[in-house]
Amino acid sequence: MAKKAKRKLEDTMGRREVLKGALGLGLALATGQVLAESASVVKAGDILVHATGDMAGKPILAKDVPAESLLMAYPMDASSKNINKDRNAMIVLVKLDPKTLDMDTAKHAAEGLVAYSAICTHRGCAVGSLAQGDIVCPCHGSMYDPHHGAKVVGGPAPRALAALPIKLDAGQVVAAGGFIGQVGV
Ligand code: FES
Repeated sequence: MAKKAKRKLEDTMGRREVLKGALGLGLALATGQVLAESASVVKAGDILVHATGDMAGKPILAKDVPAESLLMAYPMDASSKNINKDRNAMIVLVKLDPKTLDMDTAKHAAEGLVAYSAICTHRGCAVGSLAQGDIVCPCHGSMYDPHHGAKVVGGPAPRALAALPIKLDAGQVVAAGGFIGQVGV
């Protein structure tokens, strides 16, 4: 009888462990899904399009980006042609001399073009200009060096802009993956 009771207890405990495991797995999957969703604001294969000006919504061609200049972009899904205008999807694209990029930055660049999240890591303003080769946030003057992974070189920002790996496809600028690092604040 004591043996039976012991086995019953073990069975019950076993079921509890299985239930706990299933709950844990469910939670992990749910969390993973949330992470995947937030990471997919931009995804590999998205076409970068002009965010502003006469060319807004049109794909960005590498040859059309002047050297030492900055422009704002949004990602466009290659098949649905939907443009993601979510604030966290805003991208800043900068054309630099490829020889001036450090090795890590060059890995994610395409012919001197480098891309980062446009959202400042201080208070979340959109960065907006280049000054002496650095990306500048207009709100409190944070400065990021696009040659070196957009590391902070001035102002109150606590960390670098998230990087976006890019490549060229028939001359168009295309995301080669999602953002690397945290977007914004
Ligand atoms: S929000 Fe960019 S420097 Fe403060």
